[in-house]
Amino acid sequence: MEFVLYEVKGQTGIITISREKALNALNSAVLEELDKTLDSVDLDTVRCLILTGAGQKSFVAGADIGEMSTLTKAEGEAFGKKGNDVFRKLETFPIPVIAAINGFALGGGCEISMSCDIRICSDNAVFGQPEVGLGITPGFGGTQRLARLVGPGMAKQMIYTARNIKADEALRIGLVNAVYPQEELMAAAEKMAAGIAKNAPIAVRNCKKAINDGLEAGMDEAIVIEEKLFGDCFETEDQKYGMAFFLDKNKEKVKEPFQNK
Ligand code: CAA
Repeated sequence: MEFVLYEVKGQTGIITISREKALNALNSAVLEELDKTLDSVDLDTVRCLILTGAGQKSFVAGADIGEMSTLTKAEGEAFGKKGNDVFRKLETFPIPVIAAINGFALGGGCEISMSCDIRICSDNAVFGQPEVGLGITPGFGGTQRLARLVGPGMAKQMIYTARNIKADEALRIGLVNAVYPQEELMAAAEKMAAGIAKNAPIAVRNCKKAINDGLEAGMDEAIVIEEKLFGDCFETEDQKYGMAFFLDKNKEKVKEPFQNK
């Protein structure tokens, strides 16, 4: 891969978008490599992903403006689909994905972070949907996910004005969960990922699916989605062990890692 790095640390997979000369902007090649990288994740061993950008300045500075500048209407729509398909794969990826946003998260950069389950950022991070200033709409899910995350009023303000916001404001409006000094961001992301990875993997995956699928349904349907995924955890080795461990009165015993079975 030329633009996407992937490494596994313990039970955490770290994906780094690495196109530093263009501030990690997303061109077709980056999107294709990201798609292939997701397909290559070994779900038997990896329990959480972290997505970040190479360097100290930018997470992802958006879709590649050079590549987009000459597109026809049909090509523009196809480029939007290309991004949306990968971002949707990320959003529905079986295991949680943490975005560690280490700088600019503009346009497609803000959008890819919103396809992740959890967003944390460095104190130099900048968020925004600058597209209307370029003569286009957000095209990788921004009009949909931003409104769902921060509410339609704030999303419309950000998108119509194309004004960038800093990390503290992103925290205040609920776009990110926490802000860290740049040098502490990856350690914080890895610690969070390890905290997720130690829990029963089938249960964690089912939580992700229940939350995601439930958000797209009415409450009557959503609660049935939860019931099925809750029921699905029973009779697993991890459910039997987790509950037996709790009920065991021998407090000297050390909890074994969950087996993903
Ligand atoms: N596409 C292509 N190249 C980009 C880019 C992008 N989105 N963002 C930055 N670059 C390139 C610059 O062209 C520059 O390349 P050269 O060195 O070859 O000139 C290099 O990265 C460094 O950028 P700057 O010199 O501009 O760095 P800066 O520190 O002065 O500014 C910045 C940083 C404010 C992020 C500025 O680069 C910028 O505004 N970038 C564009 C941000 C943007 O508008 N993103 C949205 C794109 S549209 C989109 O994403 C549509 C969608 O929803 C699908």
